[in-house]
Amino acid sequence: MEKHIAVIPGDGIGPEIVNQALKVLDAVGAKYAHTFTYEEVDMGGVAIDKWGEPLPQAMLEKCLASDSVLLGAVGGPKWDTLPGDRRPEKGLLALRKAMGLYSNLRPAKLWPQLREASPLKDAIVEQGIDFVVVRELIGGVYFGQHRTETVHGQQVATDVMPYSEEEIRRIGHIAFQAARKRRGKVTSVDKANVLDTSRLWRKVMHQLQAEYPDVTYQDMLVDNAAMQIVRCPSQFDVIVTENMFGDILSDEASMVTGSIGMIPSSSLGEGTRGLYEPIHGSAPDIAGQDKANPIGTILSAAMMLLYSFDLPQEAAAVEQAVAQVLGDGLRTGDSMAPGCTLVSCSQMGDAIAARIGS
Ligand code: IPM
Ligand code: MG
Repeated sequence: MEKHIAVIPGDGIGPEIVNQALKVLDAVGAKYAHTFTYEEVDMGGVAIDKWGEPLPQAMLEKCLASDSVLLGAVGGPKWDTLPGDRRPEKGLLALRKAMGLYSNLRPAKLWPQLREASPLKDAIVEQGIDFVVVRELIGGVYFGQHRTETVHGQQVATDVMPYSEEEIRRIGHIAFQAARKRRGKVTSVDKANVLDTSRLWRKVMHQLQAEYPDVTYQDMLVDNAAMQIVRCPSQFDVIVTENMFGDILSDEASMVTGSIGMIPSSSLGEGTRGLYEPIHGSAPDIAGQDKANPIGTILSAAMMLLYSFDLPQEAAAVEQAVAQVLGDGLRTGDSMAPGCTLVSCSQMGDAIAARIGS
């Protein structure tokens, strides 16, 4: 198989972690006789510095012409004072929108080897943590109107949060279908006691529920969900929620599994071309020090193999290689534990790539 991958290193630790994922993809290519070609794409702060905007049209076109896109992270303090529509994050949002990637999957799974790293009590962790956050990615307040105006001498800011039935329905289907392949349970998270968008969300989810009678379904308010994720995460299988709630809950979900550095994500729309990125940010405080955990990005590449290229065996090989290095006690600083061996970002990438080849 030959696949052309648009690679967006981005900012901060982005280039370091992406390089490790490419090592792993190359190892997969060598072992299973696939050819992966890469084309570097500037997006985020690096694109602002080079081209004056976070996602130049020519860069977007490279992504649209690829078979799939791999991203490190964007953003950093250097660009924090820019106006909202010129910030690095705007490039990422514009890319998600232009590629039509409404469906964002963020698996929160506790690796048994990392049990120690979870901040939760043993009694909670022992029940297991293995759920996926299905986040609506191109609607809601992220893409509603943003406005700051002066009213009676003071500034007033407004962010609009629109959702249409169709936007809710299509992400709902993704969640119910994901549940069928897992443990058959959907929790839809909203704020239906306050928000109109959530009341519509709930109504559409209930309509869908009738189409999936084999799936267990429950509604949960977002404040309660935030609490339940730390109180009893084992109750969740598939959480489906709107864009901003999903942003917040997926960070929380990652932390209970031990390290945000471990969590990959896939973003897909109607076709097979997706965007794959770790859910963490650009970590400017450790950028350039070869310290970051590349596993979230490496597992994102595994998700690309599975969802965009339909290569389940290759994806499983990457996950097994990650499990092996963790089993061997290799850790980057974020998940370091007593008795383990501290390795750099690039050593972690080498170790995982070597396990693929073996
Ligand atoms: C994420 C990030 C982004 C988001 C930022 C960088 C715009 O936090 O992917 O979770 O809010 O979607
Ligand atoms: Mg986030």
